[in-house]
Amino acid sequence: MIDDIRRIAAAATDRIAGAATLDELGALDRELLGKTSELSGFKRQMGGLDHEAKREVGGALNAAREAMAAAVAARRAELDAIARRAQAEAERLDLTEVRAGRDAGHLHLVTQTIEELEDVFVGLGFTVAEGPEVEDDWHNFTALNFGRYHPARDMQDTFFVDLGAEREVVMRTHTSPVQIRVMEGQAPPIYSIMPGRVYRNEATDSTHLAVFHQLECLVIDRGITFGHLAGTIDMFTKAYFGPGWNMRLRPAYFPFTEPSAEFDLQRPDGSWLELGGCGMVHPNVLRNCGIDPEEFSGFAFGFGLDRLAATKHGVTDLRELASTDIRFLEQF
Ligand code: DAH
Repeated sequence: MIDDIRRIAAAATDRIAGAATLDELGALDRELLGKTSELSGFKRQMGGLDHEAKREVGGALNAAREAMAAAVAARRAELDAIARRAQAEAERLDLTEVRAGRDAGHLHLVTQTIEELEDVFVGLGFTVAEGPEVEDDWHNFTALNFGRYHPARDMQDTFFVDLGAEREVVMRTHTSPVQIRVMEGQAPPIYSIMPGRVYRNEATDSTHLAVFHQLECLVIDRGITFGHLAGTIDMFTKAYFGPGWNMRLRPAYFPFTEPSAEFDLQRPDGSWLELGGCGMVHPNVLRNCGIDPEEFSGFAFGFGLDRLAATKHGVTDLRELASTDIRFLEQF
């Protein structure tokens, strides 16, 4: 009887180990260990045995049940792990997909424009500089010769950051503060451009954004004249748009340049685009940065990059440049 029990248990654990699915394993569990199993039949036969034989057969039956139950548990753990792996594989996301025939993405039109203009100016020997978007009053206003009560400091134009002394820290309203940082950090000659993001506390519409981009240009050297300023603007306009484009200067006022002008670009069809401001760097600004205005002179200009890019690419609403609509972005 004991041999039969061992034989049955060995055959049963083989079948259990070979169960292919959790359902099959559950059926085997009921068949081999349930009330109607072969082993249960031995239990009923034990009634006719003497005390010693009962003990031995009982021990063999217990050992067999334990071995089979352990085999069921082991196989269940294996099948569970296989099921989990299959589920993970089925739910896996392929993040490496690249659509055939095209790149997975590309730079935003504004970034492309910055890189294009950097290429133009670097080709002329200019360096590219950057400054922080969160600025202090000194760099954004005071060092640029803004009087203490200049209207551009008014709350309507400037986002103030709640940090330090009142109205001391701002989101830069233009890229001109980077001029100050460049002059503070290096002695002339200086030939630099400074592209970057700027902030104005203004309502947005099709031609105005509250967060937009400017490109600043600064030249400081001996003998720099207004002619160099006009020639540089004319040169980059033609390099960016093509030979049919021209520019003009109109008298204007900026605290950090004297004389100052605004510059407009003329499209090949003759119409004008107002683009930016410019002028000869004010002697006070040079002095604020430790540069002797008797020895050095310079020019500066700054303009809206978003407007420049929109004009070239026929974008009629600047707000589109801040959108995440892939149908718009994909065009460039
Ligand atoms: N920072 C001026 C603005 O945002 C533009 C500007 C005017 C820049 C004159 C200059 C400049 O460098 O010389 O309106």
